[in-house]
Order: sequence, then structure tokens, then C-alpha cells
Amino acid sequence: MKKKWFLALALGGLMACQPQQAELQLIQLDTIQLDKTALKVEVLADSLNVPWDLDVDSEGFLWIAEQEGKVSRINLQTGEKKLLLQIEEVWKVRTSGLLGMVAHPDFHRNPFLYLNYTFKKDSLIRSKLVRYTFKDYSLRDPKVLMEIEGGTSHNGSRLAFGPDGKLYWATGDKHDFTYAQNPEKPNGKILRLNPDGSIPSDNPDPKSPVWALGFRNMQGLAFSSSGLLYTSEHGDAIEDEVNLIQKSGNYGWPAIEGKHDLQAELEFADQYKTLEPINSWTPVIAPAGMTFYGSDAIPDWKNTLLLTTLKGKSLRILFLSSDGLRIDSEEILFENLYGRLRDVAIGPDGAVYLSTSNQDWNPQPGFPLPGDDKILKISPAKTISSNPIIPVKASQVLALDGKQLYQNYCASCHKEDGKGVEGIFPSLVKSPLVQGEPRVLIEILLQGKSSATGAQAMPAFSFLDNREAAEILTYIRASWGNAASSISSTQIESTRE
Ligand code: HEC
Repeated sequence: MKKKWFLALALGGLMACQPQQAELQLIQLDTIQLDKTALKVEVLADSLNVPWDLDVDSEGFLWIAEQEGKVSRINLQTGEKKLLLQIEEVWKVRTSGLLGMVAHPDFHRNPFLYLNYTFKKDSLIRSKLVRYTFKDYSLRDPKVLMEIEGGTSHNGSRLAFGPDGKLYWATGDKHDFTYAQNPEKPNGKILRLNPDGSIPSDNPDPKSPVWALGFRNMQGLAFSSSGLLYTSEHGDAIEDEVNLIQKSGNYGWPAIEGKHDLQAELEFADQYKTLEPINSWTPVIAPAGMTFYGSDAIPDWKNTLLLTTLKGKSLRILFLSSDGLRIDSEEILFENLYGRLRDVAIGPDGAVYLSTSNQDWNPQPGFPLPGDDKILKISPAKTISSNPIIPVKASQVLALDGKQLYQNYCASCHKEDGKGVEGIFPSLVKSPLVQGEPRVLIEILLQGKSSATGAQAMPAFSFLDNREAAEILTYIRASWGNAASSISSTQIESTRE
């Protein structure tokens, strides 16, 4: 990959000067083989600084919003990129900054670009929704449509237009546990506005922009071709989510995390008629930008949600049921290859555009790569390289089982056969503690165990999520001649409290 990159740098300068041509010549990084379609991955743009939001307008131009406040536009035919705006007042720390962008769906007649960003007003962090007008190749006449409280984190945000012509805004709870369930606060909500910023008369409350509530921090907002609205949302330590949004829906945060699987959650769900996510991930993947794929250009992906992930450093292809109400299966692409991925958009010809996020506040080992951040283009390929990337089915990798987890985390001391090392690491074979009271065993795992002799101690494993901890303990209780009952995620969760 490195070698190809130097070529990209050498040709990058030339590309911009080339006249318009039938097919844009870009530097190719990789090829992908799907069941029906061969694809190529190319670099459309590079040297960006956290391109947080991508949007393709109805004229076929790709808009890029960088977190520090820059807005650029790329001509997808020629690859020509123009910086059109730098918003000086953008306040960017960690995950705040310029975070949301969408073009009016009829951009020719209504050349409006909607932006959301955080800024400082005296000592307060605020978040505003602003409408710019694109005229004479510049963005001008900013009109503030709405202003809400902002925070150092959990600001959301994504913007999308619905088939009803309304503007939807996914806000974060600004890390305040009292906001998401409070209908008076616009934070931790899906808001619905007219394109001029006024409140639609058919909102649940015609005086309030709130359309749905109970959210933590959404970074994905997408309409399907049949008009269903989906969000992606960051969970806390567990349970990242994709939700299907309904008018007046309550999605449970902070009383409920992900699926309704704990007793307290079931009680809250019963009382407030909350809705469950259509998918959740534990361990977390940090889901970010998401879009619906409805084009025939890549038939394998028709009727999917394409979801970028940060921690997961991958693109997730979520295959929807034909009615769009369920996610039937999931595939993983590019894991660890291009680093953190922040957003995704679809071109008029069905090409997929991804933005990397390797210059952001949370760089990963091995990243940023030269030229980061980049906009990657994925489109059908005529020829395929000898070593194409093949998507992996999530069902095959998502869940490491108890044995694999034990080997990853425990075998270095207690050894693969559980026999440990005499006098240093106790044997787990026929151990009364392993086979005894679940609560005691769970506490050893989560809190570690100091040595009676002071020689060696056992580290705490509280960072494991509930499922992983349950899998490991169930495995050691049923291996090497041990024969004790299994341990559930719920038991782990209640011991944590
Ligand atoms: C760095 C080495 C190390 C690792 C890794 C480790 N342990 Fe331990 N473990 C110890 C030591 C040392 C003790 C004994 C502490 C003492 O003196 O009581 C212990 C004790 C235990 C005990 C109590 C056993 C008994 O009979 O006293 C259990 C159960 C246990 N470990 C499970 C695990 C599991 C499960 C994992 C993996 C998630 C794990 N350990 C990872 C070092 C380790």
C-alpha cells in the first residue's frame, strides 16, 4: 500500500489540471470481490483534516465538511476540488466542531447548504444550525435557524432531508443524563423542521421541533428509498445501536441501553413504551455516518445500510429485510485497512464515497497513513487484481467464543490447559472457586485478586464487556473436568452494580 501511495502523490498534482474526460483517472488502492460485482477502491481526495460529513447534492457535486470548519465541493466528473468556506467561529475540541451538513434536495432551485457546528458564546459551548446560500461559487448569507446547548462531547450530529421535504437533525445529549428524556430540551433528540427553520404543524407537538427522543449520541441519520428513517448511535461501554425512527418514538436512553434485556430496562420499557434498536453491537464498534444504498450499480448492496465505524475501523454492510424493518445480516469490509471511517455518501451513478477520520482526537496505532485524511471512492471495476478484498460475514467474527477469549486474556498465566504454573498461577482445574458461587467468581474476574503471599496478583478484567466475561467464565466452568453451571451476561451486569 505504501508504494502505491507514492505514485498517488506524484500523480495527484497532475490530476487536477486534466480536462474533463469520460472516466476520471484516480489512484487505485485495492479491489473488492463481491458475489456478483467486482469493485475498485480509489483515492478521490487526500490531505484533509477529519472530513466529518459528506453529502452529494442533486446536481451531482460532493460536499465535504471538515471538523475544523472548512466546507469544500468536489466535481465528481473532473475530480476538481474547491474550498468554499472556512467558518472562523467553529469551536473544535475532541468531538465538537463542524459536525453536520446537508444540501437542500432540490439544490438547483433552492441552493441551500445546511450546517451544524459548535461555537463558544462567552464561556458557554453552543451548537447552531445555519443555512448558507450557494451563489457565484461561494457560500454566503448565513441564516441561523436554531441554536441549542453544546458540550465538549455528545453533540451528534447529522442532518438529512426526508421525502416529506422536512429537515431532520439528530442531536446528542451533550453528556447530560437528564436531557434525552426531557421533551423541553432539544438535546438527545431527532428534531424535525421546515427548510426555513420553522416548526412543521404536523410535528407531535406543533410548538416543538422534537420528533423522537431518548438518544445518547447519534452520528448516522439516513432515509431509505421507501422513506424509512434510520439512525446509528454510540452506546456507552456497551450496546452501540441502529434504530428505526418513528414519530414520537422514545428510544430509552439513559434508562435503557440497547436491547431491553435487563429487569430495570423492561420495567422502563413497559411504562414508557420505548422502542428497541433493530441492531446492537457489544463489543462496541463506534458507529458513525450511515447511508441507505438503493442503486443498481452495485447489485450486491441493493437495499442495505452502509455504516462507517471508528473503533471498528471498517465499513459495515447491513442487509435489510425487504420491508426495511429488520437487519437480516451484516458484512464487514476493510477492517483495519484504512483506519477510522467517519462518513459515507452515494454518488448519482451509485459510486460510494467514504471519508477517513485518522487525524481526529483518537488516532490509532499505525495511523494516520500518508495522505490522511482521504475521501475514498468505491465503484464497479472492469478488472480485478489477483488479491481482492473479500467481505467477512459478521456472524463469523463478531463473537469470539469463551475458548478464544480465554486464550486471549487468561492463558498467558493460567495456561491453555488451565493447569497454571505451580506456585505462581493457580490451576483452574477442579478449582473450588471456579466451580463455586458465581458472584464470588465474577468478582475475582472483574476486580482481580491480590495474592495472599504477595508474590503475584491477578489483574482486574472489568474492561471486558458482559458477554465476553460471561463467555469466559462459562468456558472455564465447563472445561478440564470442571462441571459447574453457566454464567449469563445479566449476572455479570448485576455484579458490576
Ligand atoms: C497476569 C497473570 C494472570 C492473568 C492474565 C489471569 N490471571 Fe487469574 N490469577 C492470577 C493469579 C496470580 C492468581 C492468584 C491470586 C492469589 O494469589 O490469590 C489468579 C487467580 C485466579 C482465580 C482464582 C483461582 C483459585 O483457585 O484461586 C481465577 C478463577 C482466575 N484467576 C481466573 C482468571 C481468568 C478467567 C483470567 C482471564 C480473564 C485470568 N484469571 C487471567 C494471574 C492471572
